Amino acid sequence: MRIVKTAIMAAVAATMLTGVSAKAEEIVIKFSHVTGGTVHPKVLAANAFAERVNERMKGRVRVDVFPSGSLFNDDDLLIELIKGKSVQMGAPSLAKFESITKKFRIFDLPFLFNDIEAVNRFQTSEKGQELLRSMENKGILGLTYWHNGMKQMSANRPLAMPSDAKGLKFRVQQSDVLIAQMEALGASAQKMAFKEVYGALQTGVVDAQENTWSNIYTKKFYEVQDGVTETNHGIIDYAVIVSRRFWEGLPDDIRTELEQILHEVTEERNQKSFELNQKYRGEIAKSPNNNTIRTLTPQQRQAWVDAMKPVWKQFEGDIGADMIAAAQASNM
Ligand code: LMR
Repeated sequence: MRIVKTAIMAAVAATMLTGVSAKAEEIVIKFSHVTGGTVHPKVLAANAFAERVNERMKGRVRVDVFPSGSLFNDDDLLIELIKGKSVQMGAPSLAKFESITKKFRIFDLPFLFNDIEAVNRFQTSEKGQELLRSMENKGILGLTYWHNGMKQMSANRPLAMPSDAKGLKFRVQQSDVLIAQMEALGASAQKMAFKEVYGALQTGVVDAQENTWSNIYTKKFYEVQDGVTETNHGIIDYAVIVSRRFWEGLPDDIRTELEQILHEVTEERNQKSFELNQKYRGEIAKSPNNNTIRTLTPQQRQAWVDAMKPVWKQFEGDIGADMIAAAQASNM
């Protein structure tokens, strides 16, 4: 009797510790993210991952995706992932890791990457992979990167030169680099959760924002702005992350199979992100509501580079000059 009781207590303790039952019960992975609809690059990637796991690992593992911040916003996601109980997986934008690591600040440096191919080269390099491991001691593991795309700027008045941004209040993600970037323009910036942005632009709580074509299109930000200026000044990409406690508690064969499926989905979806963003740029241009897209002349673009690039120096100490050099090298 005592032996049985001890075995049960050990199983309960193992479950509490890892989130995985000692019995061959179905393992449930709650995947939380903040984008919505059916056509967004992250929605497509998260759903493809879930569908494939649910089909190929049926009865052993199930992935439930919670989009649009319906389970957690990205700030709370990080806190909950460390605990590893109420959510196991997510894919926040790389700009949202301030509370966990300062190393990810590299991804917000303005005009660091020329295009998404350069971002891909950096992320798949040794240095890029090293960054994924920089959260281990905080209880979060980075498994891979998913692409969204290059950021554009929109405001309630035309933006052609950096001086046009002076005095505007921008909504930014949870990143001090992005605050500094807007201040370098003589603007101010407010950190705000993604799901509040449309309302804040509409009511004038903020005047302006920066985001990818896919986010501007799927959230209809362009409808409540004067127009979008094609600056391509930065990126929004994602780190696919898991609770370390949960992940390391999985049986080896299950973890390996999940990694394999994630790898397949990443390869497939990342190839499509550029095309998708271009498609949504086209949809905005065709829209009957506020569809103005402004492109920059080489001289105008250079003026934005000159205004924003000095913020690199401010963050070099946190990021490391070697990391910045490696990212720059990926443009070649
Ligand atoms: C934002 O908050 O603007 C983005 O990080 C949302 C997202 O996940 O693409």
